[in-house]
Amino acid sequence: MRVFSGIQPTGEIHIGNYLGAIKQWIKLQKNNECVFCIVDLHALTIPYNPKVLQKLILEKTISYIAAGINPKKSVIFVQSKVKEHTELAWLLSIVTPIGELKRMTQYKEKAEQFKVNLNAGLFNYPILMAADILLYQTDIVPVGKDQEQHVELARIIARKFNQKYGKTFQEPQAQLPKSGAKIMSLSNPKKKMSKTDNPQGYISLFDSPKEIKSKIMKSVTDTGKEIKYSPGKLGISNLLTIYSLFSEKPIKEIEKKFKNKGYAEFKKSLVNLLINSLEPFRQKRKEFQGKEKEIKNILEEGAKRAQILAQPTIQKARQKMGLI
Ligand code: TYM
Repeated sequence: MRVFSGIQPTGEIHIGNYLGAIKQWIKLQKNNECVFCIVDLHALTIPYNPKVLQKLILEKTISYIAAGINPKKSVIFVQSKVKEHTELAWLLSIVTPIGELKRMTQYKEKAEQFKVNLNAGLFNYPILMAADILLYQTDIVPVGKDQEQHVELARIIARKFNQKYGKTFQEPQAQLPKSGAKIMSLSNPKKKMSKTDNPQGYISLFDSPKEIKSKIMKSVTDTGKEIKYSPGKLGISNLLTIYSLFSEKPIKEIEKKFKNKGYAEFKKSLVNLLINSLEPFRQKRKEFQGKEKEIKNILEEGAKRAQILAQPTIQKARQKMGLI
């Protein structure tokens, strides 16, 4: 199976990204042909600092590898280095109904958040994402819940193109984890954990033990003191989900373990669990610090491999549309 997924270079990779997406990537890379992309062009659609973008891209590559993506097995590359993505995005825009783009939840939320000088890139964002996916004849797109709607749109776009011009694209399938597809913010459990949130709301994969402790102990929990998963108790339910996924134990077992114990004791145990679980990531990242050249080589090699994979599809799309 061909697997494709991506992550934006801005902001830190947090445990939501890990549990929703990267953990699946690591499993999938064992038996599939995986292509993982650092989507720098998508990151330009909201305010960012051009001076630090390249640094963030290198850091993100290190994070991928530290988290367990093996560059010898999987293709890792930067979106803007493979120009076929932007070309295909234009071609796909021809079959994308504006009404579908207007429905996108992420667009509506971001348009509200970045009202001033609202740009067309933000509106067209899902077309570029569809191009990312369709360019590689992708079967599976492992993502968190918030990206499911965009993958569904990529399917619609593939179908419309195939109907109008003849079979060109594989229809991809989103793959969400059974649990952890939407990890909530630690400071506001009504909102999803997000890189653009304040750092109190998320735990980065590389946070120090001190930061982990402070963020978990201060995390917002609900009134009451029972350690019990319940849809009405968003804070404690979110922490239980995180506990369960890092310990690989069912929630019921954790509830039992903390029966008649308070939030503080549960949180302390979660702090220890997270410190231990994230320690290998911190160590692995250290190994790569200062190895900029090696990282750049991985990305260059990745872009070459990606371009080879992309060529037949872009040629086919151009030909079907009468461009060659
Ligand atoms: P991004 O960079 O916002 O997030 C990267 C991945 O992490 C998942 N994720 C979460 N999962 C669980 N809980 C959360 N709180 C949480 N927050 C984020 C996201 O669902 C995503 O899988 N548009 C995409 C990047 C992209 C892409 C693609 C993905 C561009 N082209 C093609 C797949 C295929 C994005 O902004 O992800």
